[in-house]
Formats: sequence, structure tokens, C-alpha cells
Amino acid sequence: MPVLTRRPVYLLLSGCLFAASFAIAAEPSVVTVGTAHSALTLTVAADGRLYELGYGRATAAVAAPRRPPAREDEFHPPAGNGYLLEPALQAVHADGNTSTELAYLSHETAADPRDANVVVTRIKLKDPAYPFFATLCFRAYQAEDVIEQWAEISHDEPAPVVLSRFASSAPVVKADSYWLTQFQGNYMREAGLVEERLAPGLKVLDSKLGVRAQQMRNPSFLLALDGPAREETGEVFGGTLAWSGSFQFAFDLDWDNRLRALCGINPFGEEYRLARGKTFTTPAMLWTWSAAGKGQVSRNFHRWARRYGIRDGDKPRPVLLNNWEATHMDFDEKKIVALFDGAKDLGVDLFLLDDGWFGNNHPRDTDRAGLGEWQVNKKKLPHGLSYLADEAAKRGIKFGIWLEPEMTNPASDLFVAHPDWVIRQPKRELQFGRNQLILDLTRPEAKEFTWKVIDDTFAPNPGIAYVKWDCNRYVTQPGSPYLPPDEQQHLLIDYQWALYDVMHRMAEKYPAIMAMVCAGGSGRVDYGALKYFHSFWPSDNTDPLQRIYIQWGFGHFFPAETIAAHVTDMGHRPVKFACDVALTGAFGVDRDVAKMTAEEKQTITASIALYKNSLRDLIAQGDLYRLESPYEGKRAALDYVAPDRSRAVLFVYQLGEAAFGPVKPRGLDPAKRYRVRELNLPAGARSRLALDNQVVDGATLMAGGLASPLRRAVESAVIEFIAEP
Ligand code: DGJ
Repeated sequence: MPVLTRRPVYLLLSGCLFAASFAIAAEPSVVTVGTAHSALTLTVAADGRLYELGYGRATAAVAAPRRPPAREDEFHPPAGNGYLLEPALQAVHADGNTSTELAYLSHETAADPRDANVVVTRIKLKDPAYPFFATLCFRAYQAEDVIEQWAEISHDEPAPVVLSRFASSAPVVKADSYWLTQFQGNYMREAGLVEERLAPGLKVLDSKLGVRAQQMRNPSFLLALDGPAREETGEVFGGTLAWSGSFQFAFDLDWDNRLRALCGINPFGEEYRLARGKTFTTPAMLWTWSAAGKGQVSRNFHRWARRYGIRDGDKPRPVLLNNWEATHMDFDEKKIVALFDGAKDLGVDLFLLDDGWFGNNHPRDTDRAGLGEWQVNKKKLPHGLSYLADEAAKRGIKFGIWLEPEMTNPASDLFVAHPDWVIRQPKRELQFGRNQLILDLTRPEAKEFTWKVIDDTFAPNPGIAYVKWDCNRYVTQPGSPYLPPDEQQHLLIDYQWALYDVMHRMAEKYPAIMAMVCAGGSGRVDYGALKYFHSFWPSDNTDPLQRIYIQWGFGHFFPAETIAAHVTDMGHRPVKFACDVALTGAFGVDRDVAKMTAEEKQTITASIALYKNSLRDLIAQGDLYRLESPYEGKRAALDYVAPDRSRAVLFVYQLGEAAFGPVKPRGLDPAKRYRVRELNLPAGARSRLALDNQVVDGATLMAGGLASPLRRAVESAVIEFIAEP
């Protein structure tokens, strides 16, 4: 039965009683937003404000404090009326008052009627002096220990209220010390881990790029308490913002060693004039807490994502053959059809035709032209896309297509006809990124055009089974020729919601078409976009040695099945090494099969067969244990364990010359007996693994480990554990 609590309270502030319409309650209440192991506890104090009592381990019963809480413990504090630190909300009211007060009005807690695993809490706050409301909303995912929070802001004031801060979530954490890990880098070196101890003051991690906003930093972090984050021990929070636009995380460590983590849309240049009767909804912030290290943080997010965060979390991702690295834009129908033959030989599921297939007046032969002209290029592909899909089908493979629908080149019919449909600043010279401009999706016609790019590509070509949605530049001149002068700063926020609308439409109308989100790499990897996609392209860097780090970084928040991992010849590493790295993601290939050596072809074919017939589900649905970090030594190792622990697979990568000690798997059932087998060996090779084909119990394997079969740098091993019946 859902529990419903609606509770009026005193709104007593500085000795005066506000808002006579509020009924009176004698004691402050405790509101708990809890999951199986974690809890965020809040209370309403006698001054009517909402305070936080704690966030972390779920404890039996938390009583309301006897003494009034410190003002620094206010939950979701607004600016301007006594709160001295970074505020969660800041507004200028219709009459020019720059202060906001938020007092508790009511709350509701109930199990989601469609899903007993989810408890929904909505806490309504109101400014006692204005018809101004902030509703703090939570979805608590019980089994996954994930708490999702966002805010809904509205008002009934006679003129717009200007919002200049609008955090999604801003909890307080208390410990002796705080260790923050960010996931940063740039094109070709995405999601690198950097950890630091927080010092008093403000530490800001952000993006100001607007679109493809995460190129230099993913909107996710780890926060470890009392020492650097460890894999399997210690308290760690994980946070990730479901937003593909500019974001800001502000960690404010105060004079009493109290840390507030303000998370949300970046307020930089994004002031919002909220009209009367409209609601400003922030994106959702996702939190998880673990007392068993960052490994558990990742497993929580992965389990949550498969069930709630991504499209078709339980469906196998197809093995792709992509032509980008093999051909770039230099192809024609004959070349593509020839690639199908190779794709078939390898055993892939789907051929993905990348950039370069469109544009007639301005053919897409280079990245200088064509975006915006989404008609099939008649010279390159005279028989159109359906012909290609049919040719692929004849060979037993599916067909997918590349799109970059929100962009235009100046050399395109679109831009020539509508130069004012792009994001640009008046009186400034136009700036380009990869020779292209971004369509201003706040303009309804431009948004509709973007949708039509998708619809007009998919509808007449029912053979299309997959799409890669790319985005190859960010915003440098955030101006909209469409929005009025006083709403210019709405641009990047409204753009993002418009983009999600189009993505949502795509997922609704074409549920059978699988989708990969790409932004020249990882500029758009977050749970705001991933709702509409099956996987993402983490980096154009496919050198497997570098990819180990990149996939390692993203794997902290995103499950393996979302991380597209393609075998190419970048870095010229041994092909087995490249395959073993790609096996830990959504496996694909980006090479011309005709140009492979016999050994390469054999290794890739065998890896694909292994992936499809045996490992794909285990890697996609299994629990990830990071065993040895590439940041800490010359070897990296990780394993995936089936939820019932009947099976596991271990990957070991030698990154350089170093001692080759035993590698210890984790997550196995100590009491189960497992047959150990090395997989994906080169044709005819014998395993150097001493335990190959032996049966050993889980406890022994985890305690003593396996003597490494690796001898040299860029060697790798894939080792399977199958529980004996
Ligand atoms: C950037 C992507 O990351 C590549 O994989 C490729 O799709 C190109 N764009 C195409 O322009």
C-alpha cells in the first residue's frame, strides 16, 4: 500500500507567523528518502525551513533534533535571506526583491504505482512572502540504492521571476575529509580520472560548452569520505547529472568541515526569466552511496541503468561493422557493398554507414559541405539507402546510418535558405567548429527540420535498423536570432529540452531502431541523453592501449553494453589485444576486411563468435569488478560476474614491461567450484595459464589468484570461470 503523508507545519520565522493558511503542527517532522542501504533524512524545524539531518548509511530511526539546526544545514538553501554560502536557488522576484525564503508546505511519499521498487517523494516549499514555489522531487530506487532528485520551480507573481541559480540537488555530506574524483580530458583522451582532497572553499567542476558540452569533462564524479576512493572498501558517493548541456558541480567546504555538493545546470550565462504559471524543471541528479567502495557505486549505477536509465537495457547490442576508419567520406555504392561481404565473413550483425552519404548541391565529400542537405548523394549511392539495406539483408546483416541532424554547413541548401536558423551572435564574425554551425532548436522551424531529418531518413527506408547520432561541435557564440533580447540566456537550456524532445520522438516512433549517441567522442555521455539511446561512442581514439583508460573511466558510471568498443588498427597493436579490449564493451569493428591479414581476420572472426555465442550477455548483464587499475601499475584487470555467480569472465591486459604477479578475481561465490578456462587464444596456441581447465573453488581463486599467463607488453588474456553443477 502506498504511504501518503501530507503534513502541515508551523511556518515560524524570526518570531512571526507567516501565511495564515498553513495549519499548525507542534513538532518538526522527519522525512526520509531511503533505499535498501542508504538514506537522505530531512526535517522541518520550528522556523519552517527544511534541513538535512544526514545522507549516507540507512539507520533504523532518525529523531528530529531538539536544538534548531545550523543554517548551513538547510536543505536546498535559497539566496538572499541569511544563507551565506553557495545557494541552491537564487531568484529576483517580480518586485525586484533579490531574496528568497523557502518554507515547508507539504510533502507526499508513495510507492510508484507502476513499480514497487521506486518510492516517490515530493516536498513542496513556498516563499512565505510570495506566491513562489519550489518542489523538491525524488525517486528512490530501492534495490539499486540510487536516489534521483530534481526541482520544479514555479510562481504566480505578476511579472516574470528571474532565476539565476537552479541546482537539481545540493545535499550536505559530513566526514573528516573528502576526496573528489572527476572524469576529464579532451578529444581523444576522454574520461581520465583525477582525484584530489578537497580543501576549504569552493571547488567547481563544470562545462560551458552548451552543446556537445562534455567534451572536456563528464558530468559525473565520485566523492570518497576519509581517504581516497578504494574499490571495495570505504564510503563513497557517486553522482551523475542527467543533462547533456553545460553543467556545474560546486563543492563548497565550509568552516565547520561540512561539504555541500551543488549539482545542476551551469548557471553561467543561463539566467532564466520564468513567466507566471510556467514551471522550470531542472534535470535529474542521480546519486548512489556505498560503504563498499567505488566498485559498488559502479555496480549500483549499472544495475539502475539497465533497468531505468537506457533504452532496452536487457537487449543484446548488435556487433557492428562501421566504415568510418576504413573509408572516411571516400566511398561509393560498390565499395560499401564490398564491405558488406567482409562484414558477413566476420559474422557481424549490422553494417553502419557513417558520414558522407548525403548532399547533392553541396556533396558531403569533405567536412566543409553538406550538413543540412539530407538527400542521398546520387553520385555515390545511385540506388539509395533501401538498396543498401537490401544488399546487406541478402548477406544476413542489418543496416544502420549516420546522422548529425542538428548541424549545418554554410555550404548547404539549408544555410543558404535560412542563415538565421543557427546559433550565432549579432555583430560578431561567425565562428565555426569543424566548418559547421549549430541549428537553433529554440526556433520551432529548426527543431521541426531536425525531426524531419530523422523521420525522412527512416520512414522511406524501413530496412534501417540502427542510427548513430553525431554532434561535432560545441557552442562558442551563444546567441539566438529567434529568442527576444530578454530571453537570450534561455538558449542553452531550451535548446537542450528541444533536443531531448526530438530524441524522444525518435525513440517513440521508431522503437525498433537501435541508436548510438556520439559527439565526436564523448561530448554527450550522460543519462539525460542515454534514455533515448542504446550505447554511446566514447572516443575517436580506438588505440586499444588508450581505450583501456577511456573505457575504464566511463565504466565507473555506464554499463559495458553502452560503451561502443570497436577494433581498428589505430596504434598498430596486436589484433588479439585490440579484440580483448573491445570485448569489454559493445563490440564492433571499424576496418576494411579486404585489407586484413589472414591472422587478423581469423582473430576478429573468432572474437565475434566468442562474444555473440558466449560473452555478450555476461558482460552486458554481469556485475563489474575492477581488479587492477591501469592508473596504478603496468597491468589492468577487471571481471564481470553473472548475477547468480554461476559464471564470470576475467580480462587481463599487460600495459608495459613489469613484474607479472598473480591476478585475483573478485565477486565469485567462495563456496562454488569453478572450471577455469582461457578463451580467445590465437588459433593453435596453448594456454600458458597454469590453472587452465582446472576446477578450483571461488575462495581459493579470490585469495590466491591466478599466475598471469602474460609475458610481454600489449599481451592480454580472457579467462572464464564456470561453476560446476
Ligand atoms: C565523429 C565521430 O566520432 C566519428 O566516429 C565519425 O562518425 C565522424 N564524426 C564522422 O564525421
